[in-house]
Amino acid sequence: MQAFQLEIHADPDAVVAQAIQIWKQRSTIAIADHGFFAVALSGGTTPKRLYATLAQIPDLDWQHTYLFWGDERYVPHDHADSNYRMTKDALIDQVPIPASQIFPYPTAAEDPELDAQRYAEQLQSVFKDAWPQFDLTLLGVGEDGHTASLFPGTGALHVEDRWVTVGSKSDQPRLTLTLPVLNHSQHVIFLVTGSSKANIIREILTTQPHLPAQQIRPIGQILWLLDSAAAAKLPLQTGMIASS
Ligand code: 6PG
Repeated sequence: MQAFQLEIHADPDAVVAQAIQIWKQRSTIAIADHGFFAVALSGGTTPKRLYATLAQIPDLDWQHTYLFWGDERYVPHDHADSNYRMTKDALIDQVPIPASQIFPYPTAAEDPELDAQRYAEQLQSVFKDAWPQFDLTLLGVGEDGHTASLFPGTGALHVEDRWVTVGSKSDQPRLTLTLPVLNHSQHVIFLVTGSSKANIIREILTTQPHLPAQQIRPIGQILWLLDSAAAAKLPLQTGMIASS
């Protein structure tokens, strides 16, 4: 398994505080290096707290920040299940980020394959013909070991020749970045909190790769940013983890 960093913090608020420090650090470095900070956001419920807290940070450079998503449910942008809507409510509507720098997945074609291709074209408009290279990629993990919308046993896991593909969760279509794109990330943070994730975290971090989340092997670094509840079943000796 690829080397990774592991940080265990007392609770979700401490996890968010650390994620914000990393966001600030990566943003400063990226904007100084190439003029913008490209982030692939995760969906679901875990990141809501981070996005709402980011909205309150006064000195972030939103004028040079570009937001993408690692995946999206195939629903309208105003649907309760939409990752874009969750992010819009928690963050986008609260900060001065130019609308032209926000890239929600198109989901209106009633054809997931077509919309997946359209998102790939949007990525190409920003990253030109080079591989999309996110300066920071946030990912979550499901209790089945999925990440983004790469679910165990689905074809999306094996798509190597496209940047965006169609995933599926219980026959519900989803749009997702493919493993090659996710693995072109410079910095991947898995943001995982709560006792419901303790079993899958142990399996992911202590077994040979067989789950989607274990296929994330970026050209850059991986940080597992956990709270103590999500880390509770890791076989760690006491004192190995600095208290936060
Ligand atoms: C999504 C996410 C997905 C999520 C995990 C964890 O669209 O749901 O991208 O990969 O990160 O399912 O979700 P929770 O944070 O809700 O547990």
